[in-house]
Order: sequence, then C-alpha cells, then structure tokens
Amino acid sequence: MSLFYLSKPYQPPEAPKNLPLNQPWALFGGISPELFMKRYWHKKPLLVRGAIPAFALAKKNQQELSSPISESELFKLATDEMVESRLVQSKPWSFESGPFKKSSIPKIDRKDWTLLLQGMEAHHPAAATVLSWFRFIPDARLDDLMISIAGVGGGVGPHFDSYDVFLLQMSGRRQWRISAQKDLRLNPNLPLKILQHFQVEQEWVLEPGDMLYLPPHIAHDGIALDAGCQTWSVGFRSPSFKELLQEGLWRLAESLEGIPELEEKFADPKQEASTNPEELPRELITQLEKKLAGLKLDQINQFLPGITAYLTEPKQEAFFKGPSTPLSPSQFAQKISFQPLVPHPQTRILSLRPHIYCNGEMVTQGQTTQIKGAWRTLAAHKALTQKGLRSLETSSLYEAYLSGWLVFRSE
Ligand code: SIN
Ligand code: CO
Repeated sequence: MSLFYLSKPYQPPEAPKNLPLNQPWALFGGISPELFMKRYWHKKPLLVRGAIPAFALAKKNQQELSSPISESELFKLATDEMVESRLVQSKPWSFESGPFKKSSIPKIDRKDWTLLLQGMEAHHPAAATVLSWFRFIPDARLDDLMISIAGVGGGVGPHFDSYDVFLLQMSGRRQWRISAQKDLRLNPNLPLKILQHFQVEQEWVLEPGDMLYLPPHIAHDGIALDAGCQTWSVGFRSPSFKELLQEGLWRLAESLEGIPELEEKFADPKQEASTNPEELPRELITQLEKKLAGLKLDQINQFLPGITAYLTEPKQEAFFKGPSTPLSPSQFAQKISFQPLVPHPQTRILSLRPHIYCNGEMVTQGQTTQIKGAWRTLAAHKALTQKGLRSLETSSLYEAYLSGWLVFRSE
C-alpha cells in the first residue's frame, strides 16, 4: 500500500515586495542573491538541492507535491495558437512547431519526446509567480519562463544556449549532464542544434524542487527519467552589441523626423566650377559633417532611448486585447483607488531616468507629474493603486489600459 496521499499541486509563494538581497535563500542553496550574483551569475553553474524546500518537506510528511500546472493543462496550452510550442522527438531526432492537435501530442507513457512551451508566465499565474522570485536580476535581461514536459527518455539533446538559465525541476526526475567544453560545433545533419561532440564533465539527477543554474555556453543535456517530467526554465537573454546598436541606430534615425531644421535642403551657393563633376561635392561633405556634430551621435545618451524602447518591445507572440467594456476615465480613477492595475503578463516596462518605456514606447513624455509617478510605480513594483488620479482622458496610463497593456488584477 502506498504511504503517499494523493499529490497536491505546489503553490509557489509570492515573492516579498522588497526582496531580501543580502539574506540566505533556499533557492540558491543558502546563499544570498548578492553572493549568487558575485560568485555564479554569468560565470559558473550551480546545482541546488531542495531549492524549493516544500517538495522535500511534503515528502517527509508522506505527502507528494505535483507541479502547479497539470499535464492536461500543459497539453491544452500546446493546442493554443497564442502559445509558442515545440515538440522534439529523440529517436530519431525530429522537430515540429505548434500549435498542435490534441491527437498529435504523444501520450504521457510514450518514450523519447518532449513538449516545450514558451512564455508560460503569460498563461499561468504560478509561472508568473515563479518568475517574480528572480526580480533581483534586471528586467532588461529577462526573456521568459519555458516549461518542458516529457516522456521517459525525452530531451532536446546535448546543446548550448546563449542564455543564462535557471532549470527548476517541478515534476518527475531529470538527469542533467553538463560540460564547459570549448568545442561547440553543431551536428550539421540534424534538424535541431545538437553538439557534434559532447564531453560530459558532471552529471546529476534532479528531483522535484532541485534547481540547476547554467550560464551561457555551458554544454548541457537533460534527459527525462520519469513520464510527465516537468522542467521550468527561467531564461535571461543577452542581446548582441550588433542587435543593440542596429536597433538603437534605427530608432535614432526615426527620431530625426522630429527635428524641423533637418528638413532644410542642402544649399551650395559657394560651389565652384568643377573639373571632377563625378565626385561627391566637398561642400556637401562639410555641411553634413557639421550637422552630424550637432546631433552628437557619438554620445551614448543619444542611443539609450532607442535601445530602451527596443528592449521593451513585446515578444512576437504577444497579443493584447483591450477591455470589451472599457471603464470611462472617471470609473477608471475610481477603480484604481482600491484595485491594483498591473502590467499584462506580456507587457514589458523599463526605466531610463527620468522616463519610462512600455512595449516599445516612451510613455512619460508630455505627461503630468502624477501620471509620470504612476508609471514609475508600475515599472518598479509591477502594480499600482492610487487615489485621486486626475486628467486621465488624454493620459498614456488610461490609453495603455484601453490597449490591454495594463489590466486590473483580478480578485
Ligand atoms: C528542457 O527543459 O528540456 C530543455 C531546457 C534546456 O536545455 O535549455
Ligand atoms: Co538548453
């Protein structure tokens, strides 16, 4: 007879409002986030047994915790066209993108498959809560929370990522093998990014509640040991300088629209008769040089607004839908005095003092001091309740609510 009671879904606790950054956290094996950042972040792997102590604690009390999201919920999400999903089968290697018909998702007791679901923070509150535990890492670095669910033997093969990732084991066991190898050549004959030569250096079996942190470019391979194995990956992107500069330059070019004196046409009353008419005129070069110097293109502050706006662009799959029966500005002001307004899970907000950027736009430009303050609170705390909001009609805050970028937290 089993000593275990029926398993209960684990309910991840909300992170405290002010994360205690210099206190030991179980999530990092008893070191503080400050120490974790100093010793491990972007430097070396860290295995944490019992990162979520609730799993081991339940076991001690002869109970069992299951993942906060059930198999059937995950399978349902894989059929949703709003969810980015992939199915990887390993013998032989094959890869398909979702959405999937229910009948094409392998049964849980089949072997050698894994289903990967991106951006889960937008689709389940438990995933959003787990993500909030990591809010001592700059929001600009955050990508998303991916969930994998697999049959025995399932995995995506030995590979490396250019991401920092926290791999939280939420259901079943997974074997992780890792290597700091320099040879990162990929097998050219496979439909997935799989290393040609994987030289295992360390390996562990992770149980529910355990966590493995990997910095970028550490080769790794995770193989499910139990049917329904779930791994939750909190991923942090680091864009290339090329991407940042291209996006910054592109937006800087767009911003020239707002400078009327640049509409002036080049004038060359001093142009002399030329024996080399095919050459670009010296006069044009000289005048352009002056204009460029005036734009101060070599100064970082000229680029940062565009780069910040870029970093708040929502993911391609993001979908915002305004409220079907929107509140009027005065009803909105009334509601926000007692019910928190929060960013939609796919909304991205960043601050570049003194401005706030949301979903690719600077939202504090030309706004009242009160609205600017409201955006600053939203950026810092991801929630806003405020009494006495005025002049909402034309505000970017009310507009963001109408666009579905900001929503009232449901009770
Ligand atoms: C997985 O969860 O199966 C894959 C995660 C990873 O290796 O990046
Ligand atoms: Co990986």
